[in-house]
Amino acid sequence: MAPVSRLRPVTPLGILAQRLDDVADRLDGVDAGLAAELQALRDLAVGFEPYLEEHTSPESPALARLAERTRSAAWTGSLEAEMLSGHVEGRFLSFLLGMTRARRVLEIGMFTGYSALAMAEALPADGEVVACELDADVAAFAQECFAESSAGARIDVRVGPAGETLTALAAEGQVFDVVFIDADKAGYGDYLATLLDGHLLAPGGLVAVDNTLMQGQPWTGAATPNGEAVAAFNAAVTADPRVEQVLVPLRDGITLIRRTDT
Ligand SMILES: C[S@@+](CC[C@H](N)C(=O)[O-])C[C@H]1O[C@@H](n2cnc3c(N)ncnc32)[C@H](O)[C@@H]1O
Repeated sequence: MAPVSRLRPVTPLGILAQRLDDVADRLDGVDAGLAAELQALRDLAVGFEPYLEEHTSPESPALARLAERTRSAAWTGSLEAEMLSGHVEGRFLSFLLGMTRARRVLEIGMFTGYSALAMAEALPADGEVVACELDADVAAFAQECFAESSAGARIDVRVGPAGETLTALAAEGQVFDVVFIDADKAGYGDYLATLLDGHLLAPGGLVAVDNTLMQGQPWTGAATPNGEAVAAFNAAVTADPRVEQVLVPLRDGITLIRRTDT
Protein backbone atom coordinates (compact mmCIF):
# COMPACT_ATOMS: atom_id res chain seq x y z
CA MET A 1 0.00 0.00 0.00
CA ALA A 2 1.49 3.36 -1.05
CA PRO A 3 2.30 5.70 1.85
CA VAL A 4 0.71 9.14 1.64
CA SER A 5 3.19 12.04 1.46
CA ARG A 6 3.32 13.99 4.71
CA LEU A 7 4.35 17.24 2.97
CA ARG A 8 1.44 19.68 3.03
CA PRO A 9 -0.57 18.77 -0.06
CA VAL A 10 -1.14 21.65 -2.50
CA THR A 11 -2.94 19.92 -5.37
CA PRO A 12 -6.57 18.72 -5.54
CA LEU A 13 -5.41 15.10 -5.84
CA GLY A 14 -2.86 15.45 -3.05
CA ILE A 15 -5.52 16.92 -0.78
CA LEU A 16 -7.98 14.17 -1.74
CA ALA A 17 -5.33 11.52 -1.05
CA GLN A 18 -4.51 12.92 2.36
CA ARG A 19 -8.16 13.24 3.38
CA LEU A 20 -8.97 9.71 2.24
CA ASP A 21 -5.88 8.47 4.10
CA ASP A 22 -7.18 10.18 7.24
CA VAL A 23 -10.61 8.59 6.71
CA ALA A 24 -8.97 5.16 6.23
CA ASP A 25 -7.46 5.53 9.71
CA ARG A 26 -10.94 5.84 11.21
CA LEU A 27 -12.67 2.78 9.77
CA ASP A 28 -12.96 0.74 12.98
CA GLY A 29 -16.59 -0.32 13.44
CA VAL A 30 -17.57 0.73 9.91
CA ASP A 31 -19.49 -1.79 7.76
CA ALA A 32 -16.87 -4.08 6.15
CA GLY A 33 -18.08 -3.45 2.58
CA LEU A 34 -18.00 0.32 3.01
CA ALA A 35 -14.59 0.11 4.73
CA ALA A 36 -13.17 -1.92 1.81
CA GLU A 37 -14.61 0.58 -0.67
CA LEU A 38 -13.09 3.53 1.19
CA GLN A 39 -9.76 1.75 1.44
CA ALA A 40 -9.80 1.14 -2.34
CA LEU A 41 -10.63 4.81 -2.98
CA ARG A 42 -7.78 5.79 -0.67
CA ASP A 43 -5.31 3.58 -2.55
CA LEU A 44 -6.48 4.93 -5.92
CA ALA A 45 -5.91 8.54 -4.80
CA VAL A 46 -2.71 8.01 -2.78
CA GLY A 47 -0.90 6.16 -5.55
CA PHE A 48 -1.78 8.58 -8.35
CA GLU A 49 0.85 11.33 -8.10
CA PRO A 50 3.73 8.95 -7.16
CA TYR A 51 2.81 6.86 -10.24
CA LEU A 52 3.11 9.97 -12.46
CA GLU A 53 6.55 10.70 -10.97
CA GLU A 54 7.73 7.14 -11.52
CA HIS A 55 6.72 7.11 -15.18
CA THR A 56 8.00 10.54 -16.17
CA SER A 57 11.55 10.96 -17.49
CA PRO A 58 13.82 11.79 -14.55
CA GLU A 59 14.87 15.31 -13.67
CA SER A 60 18.47 16.43 -14.24
CA PRO A 61 20.92 16.34 -11.29
CA ALA A 62 20.91 20.18 -11.28
CA LEU A 63 17.11 20.25 -10.91
CA ALA A 64 17.20 17.56 -8.20
CA ARG A 65 19.80 19.63 -6.28
CA LEU A 66 17.75 22.81 -6.66
CA ALA A 67 14.62 21.05 -5.37
CA GLU A 68 16.52 19.60 -2.41
CA ARG A 69 18.03 22.98 -1.52
CA THR A 70 14.55 24.53 -1.71
CA ARG A 71 13.08 21.85 0.61
CA SER A 72 15.93 22.30 3.13
CA ALA A 73 15.81 26.09 3.29
CA ALA A 74 13.93 27.94 6.04
CA TRP A 75 11.23 30.02 4.34
CA THR A 76 9.43 32.91 5.96
CA GLY A 77 6.69 35.36 4.97
CA SER A 78 4.68 34.48 1.90
CA LEU A 79 7.29 32.12 0.41
CA GLU A 80 7.22 28.37 1.12
CA ALA A 81 8.91 25.28 -0.31
CA GLU A 82 5.54 23.99 -1.60
CA MET A 83 5.61 26.74 -4.25
CA LEU A 84 8.17 24.77 -6.26
CA SER A 85 6.56 23.16 -9.31
CA GLY A 86 8.75 20.05 -9.40
CA HIS A 87 9.63 17.02 -11.46
CA VAL A 88 6.47 16.19 -13.46
CA GLU A 89 5.45 19.78 -14.12
CA GLY A 90 9.02 20.72 -15.04
CA ARG A 91 9.13 17.85 -17.53
CA PHE A 92 5.73 18.87 -18.89
CA LEU A 93 6.99 22.40 -19.52
CA SER A 94 10.22 21.26 -21.13
CA PHE A 95 8.19 18.85 -23.32
CA LEU A 96 5.99 21.78 -24.42
CA LEU A 97 9.04 23.81 -25.42
CA GLY A 98 10.38 20.90 -27.44
CA MET A 99 7.04 20.39 -29.23
CA THR A 100 6.66 24.08 -30.06
CA ARG A 101 10.37 24.49 -30.93
CA ALA A 102 10.39 27.50 -28.63
CA ARG A 103 13.55 29.59 -28.45
CA ARG A 104 12.47 32.50 -26.27
CA VAL A 105 10.51 31.94 -23.06
CA LEU A 106 9.12 34.31 -20.44
CA GLU A 107 8.39 33.18 -16.90
CA ILE A 108 6.28 35.34 -14.57
CA GLY A 109 6.98 34.13 -11.01
CA MET A 110 10.31 32.30 -10.67
CA PHE A 111 10.66 31.46 -6.93
CA THR A 112 13.84 29.32 -6.54
CA GLY A 113 13.98 28.71 -10.27
CA TYR A 114 12.86 25.09 -10.76
CA SER A 115 10.58 25.74 -13.75
CA ALA A 116 12.97 28.36 -15.20
CA LEU A 117 15.85 25.88 -15.14
CA ALA A 118 13.68 23.00 -16.43
CA MET A 119 12.70 25.17 -19.40
CA ALA A 120 16.25 26.49 -19.96
CA GLU A 121 17.51 22.89 -20.16
CA ALA A 122 15.04 22.25 -23.00
CA LEU A 123 16.08 25.25 -25.12
CA PRO A 124 18.64 25.31 -27.92
CA ALA A 125 22.04 26.87 -27.10
CA ASP A 126 20.90 30.30 -28.35
CA GLY A 127 17.59 30.13 -26.48
CA GLU A 128 16.69 32.29 -23.48
CA VAL A 129 14.35 32.27 -20.50
CA VAL A 130 13.58 35.71 -19.07
CA ALA A 131 12.39 35.04 -15.52
CA CYS A 132 10.52 37.67 -13.48
CA GLU A 133 10.61 37.56 -9.68
CA LEU A 134 9.44 40.08 -7.09
CA ASP A 135 11.55 38.89 -4.16
CA ALA A 136 15.25 39.82 -4.43
CA ASP A 137 16.39 37.21 -1.87
CA VAL A 138 14.72 34.27 -3.57
CA ALA A 139 16.01 35.55 -6.92
CA ALA A 140 19.56 35.46 -5.49
CA PHE A 141 18.92 31.91 -4.20
CA ALA A 142 17.84 30.85 -7.70
CA GLN A 143 20.83 32.48 -9.33
CA GLU A 144 23.22 30.55 -7.06
CA CYS A 145 21.55 27.34 -8.26
CA PHE A 146 21.67 28.44 -11.92
CA ALA A 147 25.42 29.08 -11.60
CA GLU A 148 25.91 25.32 -11.01
CA SER A 149 24.32 24.35 -14.36
CA SER A 150 25.38 25.19 -17.92
CA ALA A 151 21.71 25.76 -18.83
CA GLY A 152 21.56 28.39 -16.09
CA ALA A 153 23.47 30.77 -18.38
CA ARG A 154 20.35 30.90 -20.59
CA ILE A 155 18.27 32.50 -17.81
CA ASP A 156 17.98 36.29 -17.53
CA VAL A 157 16.52 37.14 -14.11
CA ARG A 158 14.52 40.36 -13.77
CA VAL A 159 13.76 41.38 -10.18
CA GLY A 160 10.72 43.56 -9.49
CA PRO A 161 6.94 43.58 -9.84
CA ALA A 162 6.13 41.60 -12.99
CA GLY A 163 3.77 44.26 -14.33
CA GLU A 164 6.64 46.75 -14.46
CA THR A 165 9.01 44.16 -15.91
CA LEU A 166 6.53 43.37 -18.72
CA THR A 167 6.34 47.08 -19.58
CA ALA A 168 10.15 47.25 -19.70
CA LEU A 169 10.41 44.09 -21.83
CA ALA A 170 7.83 45.46 -24.28
CA ALA A 171 9.82 48.72 -24.53
CA GLU A 172 12.93 46.64 -25.29
CA GLY A 173 11.03 44.98 -28.15
CA GLN A 174 11.29 41.52 -26.61
CA VAL A 175 9.04 38.79 -28.04
CA PHE A 176 8.41 35.32 -26.57
CA ASP A 177 7.30 32.01 -28.06
CA VAL A 178 6.06 30.61 -24.73
CA VAL A 179 5.05 32.40 -21.53
CA PHE A 180 4.62 30.60 -18.19
CA ILE A 181 2.51 32.55 -15.67
CA ASP A 182 3.04 31.40 -12.06
CA ALA A 183 3.09 34.54 -9.86
CA ASP A 184 0.44 36.38 -7.78
CA LYS A 185 -2.98 34.97 -8.70
CA ALA A 186 -4.68 38.37 -8.52
CA GLY A 187 -2.34 39.55 -11.28
CA TYR A 188 -3.10 36.73 -13.74
CA GLY A 189 -5.80 38.63 -15.63
CA ASP A 190 -3.60 41.68 -16.17
CA TYR A 191 -0.60 39.57 -17.23
CA LEU A 192 -2.67 37.71 -19.82
CA ALA A 193 -4.25 40.95 -21.08
CA THR A 194 -0.80 42.52 -21.50
CA LEU A 195 0.36 39.48 -23.45
CA LEU A 196 -2.70 39.27 -25.70
CA ASP A 197 -3.08 43.02 -26.31
CA GLY A 198 0.59 43.90 -26.70
CA HIS A 199 3.47 42.55 -28.73
CA LEU A 200 5.28 40.40 -26.15
CA LEU A 201 3.74 37.16 -27.42
CA ALA A 202 4.96 35.91 -30.81
CA PRO A 203 2.29 35.13 -33.44
CA GLY A 204 1.10 31.59 -32.65
CA GLY A 205 2.69 31.88 -29.19
CA LEU A 206 1.57 29.78 -26.25
CA VAL A 207 0.71 30.87 -22.72
CA ALA A 208 0.77 28.30 -19.89
CA VAL A 209 -0.85 29.36 -16.62
CA ASP A 210 -0.19 27.51 -13.37
CA ASN A 211 -2.50 26.71 -10.43
CA THR A 212 -5.72 27.08 -12.41
CA LEU A 213 -7.28 24.32 -10.28
CA MET A 214 -6.18 26.15 -7.09
CA GLN A 215 -6.53 23.13 -4.83
CA GLY A 216 -10.14 22.61 -5.97
CA GLN A 217 -11.34 25.91 -4.53
CA PRO A 218 -13.05 27.16 -7.73
CA TRP A 219 -15.61 24.33 -7.62
CA THR A 220 -15.71 23.36 -3.94
CA GLY A 221 -16.47 26.93 -2.94
CA ALA A 222 -13.76 27.05 -0.23
CA ALA A 223 -13.15 30.74 -0.74
CA THR A 224 -9.70 32.25 -0.28
CA PRO A 225 -8.48 35.34 -2.15
CA ASN A 226 -6.36 33.09 -4.38
CA GLY A 227 -9.29 30.74 -5.05
CA GLU A 228 -11.54 33.67 -5.97
CA ALA A 229 -8.86 35.21 -8.20
CA VAL A 230 -8.30 31.94 -10.06
CA ALA A 231 -12.05 31.30 -10.44
CA ALA A 232 -12.49 34.79 -11.93
CA PHE A 233 -9.48 34.31 -14.21
CA ASN A 234 -10.75 30.93 -15.46
CA ALA A 235 -14.20 32.37 -16.15
CA ALA A 236 -12.71 35.31 -18.08
CA VAL A 237 -10.49 33.05 -20.22
CA THR A 238 -13.42 30.70 -20.92
CA ALA A 239 -15.51 33.66 -22.12
CA ASP A 240 -12.74 35.27 -24.21
CA PRO A 241 -13.57 34.70 -27.90
CA ARG A 242 -10.00 35.50 -28.96
CA VAL A 243 -8.47 32.36 -27.48
CA GLU A 244 -8.74 28.61 -27.22
CA GLN A 245 -7.66 26.93 -24.02
CA VAL A 246 -7.37 23.58 -22.30
CA LEU A 247 -7.11 23.10 -18.55
CA VAL A 248 -4.69 20.22 -18.03
CA PRO A 249 -5.27 18.55 -14.62
CA LEU A 250 -1.57 18.15 -13.93
CA ARG A 251 -0.50 18.96 -10.36
CA ASP A 252 -2.54 22.08 -9.40
CA GLY A 253 -3.77 22.60 -12.98
CA ILE A 254 -2.07 24.22 -15.96
CA THR A 255 -4.17 26.06 -18.53
CA LEU A 256 -2.69 26.24 -22.03
CA ILE A 257 -3.91 29.26 -24.01
CA ARG A 258 -3.36 30.47 -27.53
CA ARG A 259 -4.94 33.12 -29.73
CA THR A 260 -7.16 31.83 -32.51
CA ASP A 261 -8.24 35.15 -34.01
CA THR A 262 -4.95 36.29 -35.58
C1 LIG B 1 4.45 29.75 -7.09
S1 LIG B 1 5.91 30.65 -7.00
C2 LIG B 1 6.71 30.27 -8.53
C3 LIG B 1 7.19 28.86 -8.62
C4 LIG B 1 8.14 28.60 -9.74
N1 LIG B 1 7.58 28.96 -11.03
C5 LIG B 1 8.54 27.14 -9.75
O1 LIG B 1 8.17 26.42 -10.64
O2 LIG B 1 9.23 26.68 -8.83
C6 LIG B 1 5.38 32.29 -7.23
C7 LIG B 1 6.49 33.33 -7.23
O3 LIG B 1 5.93 34.54 -7.78
C8 LIG B 1 6.54 35.61 -7.11
N2 LIG B 1 5.67 36.80 -7.26
C9 LIG B 1 4.55 37.10 -6.57
N3 LIG B 1 4.05 38.27 -6.98
C10 LIG B 1 4.87 38.71 -7.98
C11 LIG B 1 4.89 39.88 -8.79
N4 LIG B 1 3.94 40.83 -8.69
N5 LIG B 1 5.88 40.00 -9.68
C12 LIG B 1 6.85 39.05 -9.81
N6 LIG B 1 6.88 37.93 -9.06
C13 LIG B 1 5.90 37.76 -8.15
C14 LIG B 1 6.68 35.16 -5.66
O4 LIG B 1 7.66 35.90 -4.97
C15 LIG B 1 7.03 33.67 -5.86
O5 LIG B 1 8.42 33.49 -5.82
